[in-house]
Amino acid sequence: MSLRYHNKVTVVTGGSKGIGRGIVRVFVENGAKVVFCARGGAEGEALEVELNKAGPGSCKFVRCDISKEEDIKRLIDVTAQRHGHIDCLINNAGWHPPHKPTDATTAEEFRDLLNLNLVSYFSASKCALPYLRQRRGNIVNVSSLVGTIGQKDAAPYVATKGAIISMTKAMAVDESRYGVRVNCISPGNVLTPLWEELARQTPDAAEAIKTGENAQLMGRMGTEAECGLAALFLAAEATFCTGIDLLLSGGAELDYGFKCQIPS
Ligand SMILES: NC(=O)c1ccc[n+]([C@@H]2O[C@H](COP(=O)([O-])OP(=O)(O)OC[C@H]3O[C@@H](n4cnc5c(N)ncnc54)[C@H](OP(=O)(O)O)[C@@H]3O)[C@@H](O)[C@H]2O)c1
Repeated sequence: MSLRYHNKVTVVTGGSKGIGRGIVRVFVENGAKVVFCARGGAEGEALEVELNKAGPGSCKFVRCDISKEEDIKRLIDVTAQRHGHIDCLINNAGWHPPHKPTDATTAEEFRDLLNLNLVSYFSASKCALPYLRQRRGNIVNVSSLVGTIGQKDAAPYVATKGAIISMTKAMAVDESRYGVRVNCISPGNVLTPLWEELARQTPDAAEAIKTGENAQLMGRMGTEAECGLAALFLAAEATFCTGIDLLLSGGAELDYGFKCQIPS
């Protein structure tokens, strides 16, 4: 089988679990040289060992907190020193706080989430762009379907994800002069540790997961691997796409549903 991203140097933020892990795995399976990060060490180190054994690409885990600018800079520096260049940056690490209404949300919580979910994508892009320009490389940002369609009791999260889609378009415009493409993927429900954690915060986690599955026309959630394949398509083959938002939603945004919340 031919490798779709052979020897391409790719940075993935938040690659030890969930969607990021799916991306790291698919890229290594397709010959890429991946550098990925997370805050916790154990899962990242275990994944590094597993994937390097399997090949045909390779990966290196770096412990880094993307809410800290100096950590982001170190992640990009380590990658450039190790491989000499960077072809692709995948901004993925982010967090969905527990659902709560605006009245119960502080401005400080909103600012912290903006820093984690949005400013970190900006900073990582800014650090990586001098390298990406040399290679006419690309950026893939992980946004969310809810950045377009909204979500109940999650105004700050939805705002950060909507802003990622807008920033993707703005950077696509700016970076076109260097031949750098900037795109994003917007997953709907994907069963990851983050989704499971949110389900555990409801009265019936199994019921929450069932409802999450039924939100898609396809009657199931998306998988980490499907997210990896979508990111790989944008990085490797979508050479005439820039500024796009690829929905990975199983049709969740289509058709009418029981949505009215006005008390009768
Ligand atoms: N799951 C979904 O249904 C869904 C849908 C739409 C969009 N998304 C988006 O997809 C992305 C990944 O979500 P997920 O569900 O895969 O989450 P997840 O299961 O919580 O995995 C997140 C990954 O990012 C790392 N991470 C978290 N905070 C970090 C930080 N400050 N610095 C560095 N690494 C960090 C985590 O490792 P550590 O905890 O060890 O740091 C982990 O490797 C997020 O941007 C999320 O908003 C998810």
